[in-house]
Amino acid sequence: MSTNPVQNNSDAWSGRFSEPVDALVQRYTASVTFDKRLALYDIEGSLAHAEMLHAQGILTAADYADIRRGMAQIVAEIREGHFAWRVALEDVHMNIEWRLTELIGDAGKRLHTGRSRNDQVATDIRLYLRAEIDGITRLLRSLCNVLLDVAERHAATIMPGFTHLQVAQPVTFGHHMLAYAEMFSRDIARMADCRVRVNRLPLGAAALAGTTFAIDRERVARTLDFDGVCRNSLDAVSDRDFAIEFCAAAALVMTHISRLSEELILWMNPRFAFIDIPDRFCTGSSIMPQKKNPDVPELARGKTGRINGNLMSLLTLMKGQPLAYNKDNQEDKEPLFDTVDTVSDTLRIFVDMMGAITVREKSMRQAALEGYATATDLADYLVKKGLPFRVAHEVVAKAVRACVERGCDLSDLTLGEMQEFSPLIEQDVMAVLTLEGSVCARNHIGGAAPEQVLKAVAAMRKNLE
Ligand code: ARG
Repeated sequence: MSTNPVQNNSDAWSGRFSEPVDALVQRYTASVTFDKRLALYDIEGSLAHAEMLHAQGILTAADYADIRRGMAQIVAEIREGHFAWRVALEDVHMNIEWRLTELIGDAGKRLHTGRSRNDQVATDIRLYLRAEIDGITRLLRSLCNVLLDVAERHAATIMPGFTHLQVAQPVTFGHHMLAYAEMFSRDIARMADCRVRVNRLPLGAAALAGTTFAIDRERVARTLDFDGVCRNSLDAVSDRDFAIEFCAAAALVMTHISRLSEELILWMNPRFAFIDIPDRFCTGSSIMPQKKNPDVPELARGKTGRINGNLMSLLTLMKGQPLAYNKDNQEDKEPLFDTVDTVSDTLRIFVDMMGAITVREKSMRQAALEGYATATDLADYLVKKGLPFRVAHEVVAKAVRACVERGCDLSDLTLGEMQEFSPLIEQDVMAVLTLEGSVCARNHIGGAAPEQVLKAVAAMRKNLE
C-alpha cells in the first residue's frame, strides 16, 4: 500500500487500474461511514484469523505479536475516539488494515493471507448480530418480567375484554397483560432460534472458493465462540438469510409492540381512562394547553413501519443475486443496524414505561359494567339448566335488547323481570351476572380467572429464568 492512502482507495488494487477512481464513485461505493460500527468485531475476527495462521505455521511468532500489538493500539484509538476514519479507504476492513500496516509495517500486510473481505465482512456481521441478539433477548426478558409483575398486581382487576373493539366479556387486566407476555416470550424463542443460524463461521471461504493455504477453520470457530463453520464457501460469503431472519423476528417484536401501543393510546384516551402514562413518556401541544399526548406508543407504532421496510429491503436486496458475493450485499448493513437500534431503544423504553403506568381500576370496572359483558354467562347458565345453546343465545339477546331500551344492565333486572325471558332463571343467577363471578368461572388453563392468571405468572417467571 502507498504511504498516502487518503487520495485513493484504488491503492489497494492499483496494480490493475490505470486511473484513480472518480470522487463521487468513491463516496458512492464507500461504506466506512456506517460499517465502522463493526470495527471491534472486525478486529476480533482478524485476531482469531492471525492466531490460526500462526498456529498453522503460516505466520511467524514475530508477525503475530506485531499484529496483536498493532490491533491493541487500534482498539484504544477507536475507543478513545481518535481513530482517523478515511472514506478513501472505502470500508472498515481496509481502514483498519491500513492503520495496522502504518503501525507495524509488513506484518500488517500479511494479515490478509488466506482471507478475503468477503468472508471477513460476513464474519463481522455475524459477530455483531450475535451480540445484538443477546442484548435484545435480555430486553425482551425484562419486558416480560415487567408485564408479569403488572399481571400479578392486577390478577383480579376487572376490565372489559373486547372483540371488534366492542365490549365482549369481562377479563382481568392481569390476563390482558399476560397475553402480551406470551407474545414477547415467543419473540424470545424466535431470537434464540435465529441465533443458532447466525452463529456459524464464514471465515475460510475467502473470496468464494476457499483458500490454498492450510487453514484450520474449526480452530477459528472455537476462538470466536461459533457453534461451527459454514459448510459451503460460496454460500458462506453470499447469503444473508440469517440477517433477513433476524429482521423478520424483529418485525414481529415490533408488531407486538405496535399492538400494545395501540391499546395504550386508546386506554389513555379520557373516554376509556383505563390507564395513565407518566409525563416523562408524553409531550404536550404547542398550541393546545390541555394536551398530554402518548407520544412513545404512537412513535413505536409508527416505527414498526420502518422495521417492516427494513425486512423488505433485505429480502429485495437478496432475491436476484447470483452466487457468490456481490457488492449489493454492502447494502445489508444500514437496514440491519437501523432494525437493531430501533428495536433495542423501543424495548428499553417499554420496559421502563410498562412498569410505570397507572391502572385506573374504577374506569375499567365501569366500562365492563356498561357493556352487557356477562350476557354469555347468562346464556351458559341457561344451557346448564337444560336449554340448547342457540335457544339460550336468543333468550339472552332479547333480554339485552330490553335492557338497551331501558338503559340498564342485565344485573339491574329483578328476578321477576328476568323470569319473563325464561322461567328457568332462578335466584342463583345473580352470582353469574356479576363481573367477578364471570371471570372466576373461567377457571381452566388459559382462562381469565384470577387463580389461573396467578398460576400462569408463576409458570412464565420460571420459564424466563
Ligand atoms: N464493504 C464490503 C461489504 O460490506 C466488504 C466486502 C467487499 N468485498 C468486495 N469484494 N468488494 O460487503
